[in-house]
Amino acid sequence: MTTPTTSSPTTDEEDLPHTKDTGDPFDRDVLPTPPGATAALLRSLLAPMKARVALTTLLLLLQQAAVQAGPLLVAYAIDRAVPAFRADDHGPLVAVAVGYLVCALASGGLQYAFLIASARVNQDVLLDLRGRIFRHAQALSIDFHERYTSGRLISRSTTDVESLRELLSEGLQELVTVILSFLYISAMLLWLDLGLGAVAVASFVPLYLLVRVYRQRAGRVYRVRSTAIAAVIVKFVETMNGIRPVRAFRREAVNEAEFRVLNRRHERTNGDALLEMARYVVGSRLVANTAVAGIVLWGAYRVAGGSLELGVLAAAVLYLRRLYDPIDRLGMFLNSYQSAAASLEKIAGLLAQTPSVPEPSVPRELPARRSELPGREVVFDGVGFGYRTGGEVLPPFDLTLPAGQTVAVVGSTGAGKSTLAKLLARFYDPTAGRVLLDGVDLRDLAMAELRRGVVMVTQEAFLFSGTVAENIAIGRPDASREEIERAAKAIGAHEFISALPDGYDTDVRKRGGRISAGQRQLVAFARALLADPAVLILDEATSSLDIPGERAVQAAMATVLKGRTAVVIAHRLSTVEIADRVLVMEHGRIVEDGSPDRLIAGTGRFADLHRAWRDSLA
Ligand SMILES: Nc1ncnc2c1ncn2[C@@H]1O[C@H](COP(=O)(O)OP(=O)(O)OP(=O)(O)O)[C@@H](O)[C@H]1O
Ligand SMILES: [Mg+2]
Repeated sequence: MTTPTTSSPTTDEEDLPHTKDTGDPFDRDVLPTPPGATAALLRSLLAPMKARVALTTLLLLLQQAAVQAGPLLVAYAIDRAVPAFRADDHGPLVAVAVGYLVCALASGGLQYAFLIASARVNQDVLLDLRGRIFRHAQALSIDFHERYTSGRLISRSTTDVESLRELLSEGLQELVTVILSFLYISAMLLWLDLGLGAVAVASFVPLYLLVRVYRQRAGRVYRVRSTAIAAVIVKFVETMNGIRPVRAFRREAVNEAEFRVLNRRHERTNGDALLEMARYVVGSRLVANTAVAGIVLWGAYRVAGGSLELGVLAAAVLYLRRLYDPIDRLGMFLNSYQSAAASLEKIAGLLAQTPSVPEPSVPRELPARRSELPGREVVFDGVGFGYRTGGEVLPPFDLTLPAGQTVAVVGSTGAGKSTLAKLLARFYDPTAGRVLLDGVDLRDLAMAELRRGVVMVTQEAFLFSGTVAENIAIGRPDASREEIERAAKAIGAHEFISALPDGYDTDVRKRGGRISAGQRQLVAFARALLADPAVLILDEATSSLDIPGERAVQAAMATVLKGRTAVVIAHRLSTVEIADRVLVMEHGRIVEDGSPDRLIAGTGRFADLHRAWRDSLA
């Protein structure tokens, strides 16, 4: 199963990964999260807002104090204020009523302040996190994107961030509330009556055990569930990304069957999670109700015997209800905690990835371009290469392309032409040797300078949302309209662009702005020309053009390639006619190297190819 790496409208076979997609987005094997990365991520997210986190905690602490004063006031009312009221002293009862009201108002106000403060913290954390995911994923090298599908990236920045949001917005508050009320209430109960307090505290032991068992079991279930939901998303995205081949090869039924399996698996794990939850809720209620029943029974016995005041018993029962109430919700919190922990771990794994093609720490500058020497010299010095997933693709070789030379690279499918080009554009670093641009190792060049110096146009010809003009100007955003049009004219794209509904201002993603594969290539070509690189690589860049279109580009090529070093990869040999030099590749090796005339006159592979091509034209 192959997986698309971009949401490109075409399916570029060449850039599809050759790794096997396990369909398991948790992917410990593909992307293990280094130990400690999750905690470090959490710390780095919260570090900038320490003060605000402290403030929110304080607000919650105060709010809990206000809430938990209630039963105490009830006890006071029953045992002191009501008897005083009977003795015509109204003061204490009024004080209790006022006190109750004040506590209620204070707790409401504090809760409001807390919700606003915590929402701000959460928003900033999530904003930061999603930004980091995008920035990081975009900065990672091509080979990462070949292993990690776009579906996975989407599920990282949607589902995973959302589950963190759930935790932060509800779960965390829940946990702190539960812990605080446990502390407050235990202290109150023990203070009110040591015996009753001790019984209540003793009931924590089975509850704690219950929570522990639940955490373990639910943890397992949630891990499986988060894998299952991500598999559903990956399948969905992949199918829709590849909707054209899906249609073309009538894969709908197969896809649907595969999707049904994944969808069912996800629902099943949901059912498992609910079952665990139900067991936990029933168990915790059982413990809680048994404890309350025991306390009521024992308390009533003691009240009858005169060793306990009725108000204290009433307060104890009220406290116990409040104590056990949030335990159901604690289960809920543990759920969101589990899935958020799994999500955070996956996000941390992604963020811990380092680009395999890193920016140099101390970049070197390219020597100034001497005007009498057009382009830049390219040297492959003992370069060897193999993709991460396979064996050696290019055995070590040396190759020098003098500045300004136009080199055609031909050879059969899979020979390694595109691989050579991608090494020159530094999409990958060679596994052996170095690629030099005017004597500077590509690894020592700042990415910005490299991208200015070396531009590669591929068959894919991806267009971004925006206008045609914007798409042409990508390599040089400050280009004037005149320069954009000049570039388009030079490669013969001006006519079709002018014929679009809004000409150069046509939005390529809107109705009427849809342009054909060949036209896309022309736009990509104009883009490369406008970027004016010292080294231009064309990898099947004209493969979608019709013969007149290619002829037009051919005619323009002489001007386009003048003043730069060019590597032209093409199956159609017409492209080769303008080359100064031809390289023939077979199985990763350069087997022929010479001027086109010399090679055609010879008896080698290129002579054969050329003869076959000429015959096909006749
Ligand atoms: N991203 C990748 N991961 C792993 N292997 C790859 C990758 N891209 C290409 N290969 C392998 O490297 C070899 C050379 O591929 P390359 O794309 O360079 O060939 P090519 O000469 O450009 O072929 P074509 O004419 O079909 O474009 C092939 O065997 C291919 O399977
Ligand atoms: Mg290729």
